[in-house]
Order: sequence, then structure tokens, then C-alpha cells
Amino acid sequence: MTQPFEKVRALTGMKDILPHESAAWESLEEIVREWLALYGYRNMRTPVLEHTRLFARGIGEVTDIVEKEMYSFRDSLNGEQLTMRPEFTAGMVRATIEHNLLYDRPQRVYCMGPVFRHERPQRGRYRQFHQIDVEALGFTGPDVDAELIVMLARLWQQLGLKDVRLELNSLGQADERAAHRQALVEHLEKHIDVLDEEARRRMHTNPLRVLDTKNPAMQEMADSAPRLFDFLGAESRAHFDGVCTRLQEAGIEYRLNPRLVRGLDYYNLTVFEWVTDRLGAQGTVCGGGRYDGLLELLGGKPAPAVGFAIGMERLLDLWQQSGELPAAVECDVYMVHQGEEAQRKASLLAEELRNVGLRVVVHAGSTGFKSQFKRADASGATVALIIGQDELTSGQVSVKWLRRQDDEARPQQETLPFGDVAETLKTRM
Ligand code: HAM
Repeated sequence: MTQPFEKVRALTGMKDILPHESAAWESLEEIVREWLALYGYRNMRTPVLEHTRLFARGIGEVTDIVEKEMYSFRDSLNGEQLTMRPEFTAGMVRATIEHNLLYDRPQRVYCMGPVFRHERPQRGRYRQFHQIDVEALGFTGPDVDAELIVMLARLWQQLGLKDVRLELNSLGQADERAAHRQALVEHLEKHIDVLDEEARRRMHTNPLRVLDTKNPAMQEMADSAPRLFDFLGAESRAHFDGVCTRLQEAGIEYRLNPRLVRGLDYYNLTVFEWVTDRLGAQGTVCGGGRYDGLLELLGGKPAPAVGFAIGMERLLDLWQQSGELPAAVECDVYMVHQGEEAQRKASLLAEELRNVGLRVVVHAGSTGFKSQFKRADASGATVALIIGQDELTSGQVSVKWLRRQDDEARPQQETLPFGDVAETLKTRM
């Protein structure tokens, strides 16, 4: 006797994308590919699994991601320490170095797919989620920094998104951050009594992140902390001004947010986030910035770089709210039939319709007309074609328009000779 099997469910925070949802994903992916092509970006696909040390080094040991959110394990076959990618940037930089992609020219590249972080799931926050990650490698900016932001504004506009705001900051260069860090640590030490446990733990390892706190008791301390922006030298300021000027010229509004530090350690100079109030607590749709030190940090020749990643679940949620999401349809034409001969005729005709590019579902299963029409309607098809005994005898297919009829004068139901159906539907749909 077979053992009863306890039903298996998906892992917490890892969602199935079901057939009725996938149309939106596919439309988004298509729009995104075309949008990226407009700016000369090319796709690359890196492995889901990488050596753990790539992310530890790349993202930074003292970050939430590396400290507590990575899905890491030891490969039982060869003992290697591996991690499911928690983001794309480190892997893309690794691939760039490994394949010497920057040897003769800079690169504009993107990746799209699942990434993994062991976070507490809630709306807009999952353990497997998807990113569109775009990287411009080998450009010093600030023109490219601004172009990336302008590009994002175009995408929001194309999707009809409302209420997405841009926040901008500069993290300067390493020596400027070091001077600021010293001043910041002194400030934190002066206010040690209001620091929570996490802040005390981090004040010497990653003091900038302490300012990112949501703890209300620490807000005043954070507000009065020395600002990194005030420690920037002339070059860093000029870079930042260069970005701002270009954004102004492009008509893009932004807010300077001196507290914007991002949760990954590789950034310098420009950092930015696009945020919205429409998604509840997880309102950051996109984050990115410049990371000129990462290639060298990961063993490559020094080269500047800048990029961003969009959270696809959050973007889709916003797109849905905008009401501009295209309707999910299974097919253009649904074929209803009665009797075996009609069924065979329907299958042959369906092939003809597919030859002219129409999406066709031939009803299969139960035979009642009523249930077939119900299915036809639920499929989202524009038109139902009906083949029964009468149609076989007369050589005419019955055509029933279920949706959208551009030509108001056209009857809702009509008949067409078998031989004319494909061409007629092709021109009318
Ligand atoms: P990030 O800010 O960690 O940046 O993630 C980018 C976006 O991914 C976030 O703005 C958010 O929309 C989405 N996201 C993050 N965590 C989750 C989650 N648990 N569930 C759903 N969505 C999430 C990066 O990953 C950098 N690699 C971006 C970058 C590229 N910087 C330079 N190049």
C-alpha cells in the first residue's frame, strides 16, 4: 500500500505566477526589452548560483543581505560554499571581469529574473522576487547616471504609472566618506544613550546605515547627524551637479535626500531610489547608483560603473493600480463544434487561422453548445466560430463576435464560407 502523502506547498515568500497572472508578466517583459533596446542595452544571463564569497565581498560583509538574508549552503558534492544570488550586480561584474568584456569598449547590459533574499515576507517583499537589473559598465558619467534616470522616467510614463518620486543623493568618494564617518562615529558616541541594540552593534562597522533607522526614538539623533553631503569635495560636487543639471534639462523632478544611503556597500557618488506611497510599507520600486570601485574590488581592472534594479513584483502591483494593464486573453478565436466530423473540420480550420497569425483554441471535452459558449466567453476571445451539422451542410461557418467590434454596422452574428474565414478574420481583427 502506498503511504499517504502530506500535501506539499510552495515555500514561504516564494510565489507561483499563475496562468491568469503571467500575461501581465509577459507584457511587462516585452515592454522592458523594447525600452532597453531604445537605449542600446543588451541582455546577459548569469547563473542563479555563485560562490558565497562573491556576494560577501561585493555587497559587503556588514549588510543586511550578507549578514542575514542569503540562501547559502555547502555543496554536498564538493564542499564549496554557494549562494543563490540575492541581486544581479555582483554576478554581472564577475562575468564582465571573467570574460574581459571591457577590453575594447564599455558595455550597456541588463539581466531579468529571480533573485533570493531570506526576508520576512509581506506585501511587496518576498523571498524569491524578480528584478530588472540594468548596468552601464565603463562609463565615468555624470551623463550616463542621468541617462539611466531619464530612461526610468520614460518607462514609468509608458506604463502610465502615477505617483513615483525620485530621491537622489551623492555618497562621494572613499576618502570623503572616511572623513564623514569619523565625524559620524563621534556623533553616535555622543548620543549612545538613544541608540538601540542594532545601532550600537553597527556604529563602528557601518555607521552610515545607523542613520537609515526607522526607530522613532533615534530620529532626532539621526536628523542632527553630520551629513555626508557636507564632506564632499569639488569633484564629487561637480559630478552631482552634472547629474542634477541634466535631470532639470530633461524635466525630471527629484528630491535631494541626504539620508539615502542604500543597503549595499559598493556605491559611491550618485545614488537614487524611485519611491511611491501606493505600495504600503515596501514603496521602493527601483534603486541604484554608481559603484566605481566594484570591478577592482572583485579582482578586475579598475573601471567605473553605474546601474539600477527594479523590483518587478512592485512594478506590476503599481501597473495594475494604474488601470493600464492589458487584459489577459487566452486566444483571439474560440472554436465551438458539435459532432465528430465538425470537430475534425474545426481542427483543420484552426490550423489555417494559425497560419495567418491568429491565436486559436479548439474546444475539447464536453460537447454541449451552452458550456462551449461559456468557455468561449471566459477565454477572452474576440470571436467564436461555430461548426455544427448545418454549417457542414451549407459550407458556411457561423461567426459570433463576442467582443469589440470596430465596425458598428457589422452584425454580431454572420456566416462566412469555410475558404474565406482566415483572410476575413485576419483583416478584421
Ligand atoms: P536593491 O535596492 O537591493 O538594489 O533592490 C532593488 C529593488 O528590488 C528594490 O528597489 C525593490 O523594488 C526590489 N526588492 C528588493 N528586495 C525585495 C524583496 N524582498 N521582495 C520584492 N522586491 C524586492 C539592488 O539589488 C542593486 N543590485 C541595484 C543596483 C544595480 N545598483 C547598481 N546596479
